[in-house]
Amino acid sequence: MDVYRIAVIPGDGIGPEVMKEAVRILETAAELDGNFRFEFTTYPWGCQYYLKTGEMMPQDGMEILRGYDAILLGAVGYPGVPDHISLRELLLRIRHDFDEYINLRPVKLLRGAQCPIKGVTPEDVNMTFIRENSEGEYAGSGAWLYPGTPQEVVIQNGVFSRKGCERVIRYAYELAKKEKKSLTSISKANALNYSMVFWDQIFAEVGKDYPEVETHSYLVDAASMFMVRDPKRFEIVVTSNLFGDILTDLGAAIAGGMGLAAGANLNPERTFPSMFEPIHGSAPDIAGQGIASPFASIWAASQLLDFFGREGWGKKIIDTIEAMLVEGDTLPRDQGGTSGCEECGKRVAERLRGI
Ligand code: NAD
Ligand code: IPM
Ligand code: MN
Repeated sequence: MDVYRIAVIPGDGIGPEVMKEAVRILETAAELDGNFRFEFTTYPWGCQYYLKTGEMMPQDGMEILRGYDAILLGAVGYPGVPDHISLRELLLRIRHDFDEYINLRPVKLLRGAQCPIKGVTPEDVNMTFIRENSEGEYAGSGAWLYPGTPQEVVIQNGVFSRKGCERVIRYAYELAKKEKKSLTSISKANALNYSMVFWDQIFAEVGKDYPEVETHSYLVDAASMFMVRDPKRFEIVVTSNLFGDILTDLGAAIAGGMGLAAGANLNPERTFPSMFEPIHGSAPDIAGQGIASPFASIWAASQLLDFFGREGWGKKIIDTIEAMLVEGDTLPRDQGGTSGCEECGKRVAERLRGI
């Protein structure tokens, strides 16, 4: 029996609501399978914790997390705590310090999901975004000089290391090769004359090792237009931290909304735990009402099962959500239904049990 020890950080707003359902589905999969089980430990870190203690997590928080096989995270950030503190001290800290340099975000339109673009079908929207997740525009490098004076200057640097670019681009080529798909790099070398010229150069260099992979390279402005006008151009996509953040919200909108979008923050070497999360935030506008969609966090749970090589289960879970969407069986409001978060999560579990 394989035992996976999982740290759960439900976080803020709808985070705890949707995390409960992700855990429910993982427990259901383990029980039905019989060959593996989970041990979950929940940590109450986040904005409430900050308001009580002045910290987003305790001093030894990272050492505590280090001992787990994986982390499940709900959402971080809430009015009352500045976002640049809450996010940098918890979510971004974990991604960075655990060297989770791959952010793998599927943009896949399930049958029955609400796509806002006329004439676009599930066959047209099946992308995998590989977002650089450890440096780039998110490196946190810069300065705030002469604050509050007429000379005030702020500097926010983008940090693009050869190692950092090469490893994420190589990961994307490997995936494209394995899945026999095309690979698209998205950058902006016409304006960002150091970072993105370097990125494009490394994309071409690494590509020499993968002559069998069909490649495309788009500027980010054109890429966002094509994602809406002609999404089937994109299969595997590799891009920088900030562009990946923005384009995967656009991707989420195309593929049924924030309630259906998940992401895995991977440390491929498995030196550190990887982290799985819905890509949406704490949704203060609907928090506490029990109406959030749990499908994104359940999708993240399916990615966790894939990561541990339980791939049959990941697919089974996504197929179950797809069947519910097609049949209109127990759907949250953002998918045109009337069911609450818990009701939807329980229904996914029931259907996995064949009920
Ligand atoms: P958001 O993703 O929280 O919400 C955007 C919109 O999507 C809202 O209208 C919300 O109701 C809707 N939505 C999100 N998740 C949903 C779900 N599961 N079901 C149904 N509808 C859903 O983005 P925001 O409002 O820009 O950010 C709110 C807070 O969350 C901020 O503090 C922000 O920094 C933080 N944030 C955190 C993460 C994260 O933890 N990974 C991601 C994005 C934003
Ligand atoms: C995401 C989020 C985070 C990001 C924020 C909350 C820092 O938007 O996971 O997409 O920009 O990476
Ligand atoms: Mn985002």
